[in-house]
Amino acid sequence: MAEIEQLVVERRHIKQFADRPVDESELLCWLDAAAHAPNHRMTQPWEVIFVGPETRARLNHPANFGEAPVVMAVLSKAPELAMERDENLIATACFIQNFSLIAWSHGVGVRWTSIGWKASVHEALGVSDDWDVIVLGVGYPAEVPAPKPRTPMAEKVRTLP
Ligand SMILES: Cc1cc2nc3c(=O)[nH]c(=O)nc-3n(C[C@H](O)[C@H](O)[C@H](O)COP(=O)(O)O)c2cc1C
Repeated sequence: MAEIEQLVVERRHIKQFADRPVDESELLCWLDAAAHAPNHRMTQPWEVIFVGPETRARLNHPANFGEAPVVMAVLSKAPELAMERDENLIATACFIQNFSLIAWSHGVGVRWTSIGWKASVHEALGVSDDWDVIVLGVGYPAEVPAPKPRTPMAEKVRTLP
């Protein structure tokens, strides 16, 4: 299997993290590489907030991000036109997946949370409501879960004449 294919297949959503720090300058290098994600008209619609302890407490995640040593909020820029919101979020998702795969190649996992839609999270981060927010826990895994089987794509692919 090609290295990239192996990374894609073996990356896992990490729920619980080891008590081991992650070097922030390394994270920044990975974010720089991730920023080569496809994006519309070079808008690069993502920004990142490294969340400090005080703000993290205000986010009030029920599992405290699996005790991740790093909490990172990825912001997807507010749209100027309604249809831009989807495009911004799609490009930002590509950026996040790039980052996740690069981190995984260094043994670091990501926990994806859905708390970003909450007004209280926007407020704690000081981000206006028209930006989309995805909050990630980042760190070395305490354990790597078994892969969840996927539906074979042969069942989801069709060809039109
Ligand atoms: C848009 C999105 C939202 C997600 N939200 C959550 C979440 O709120 N809580 C959670 O535990 N996992 C969340 N996940 C991670 C999925 O649960 C995980 O990717 C899925 O179970 C497949 O596992 P795998 O990534 O290890 O293959 C989210 C993933 C995506 C892409």
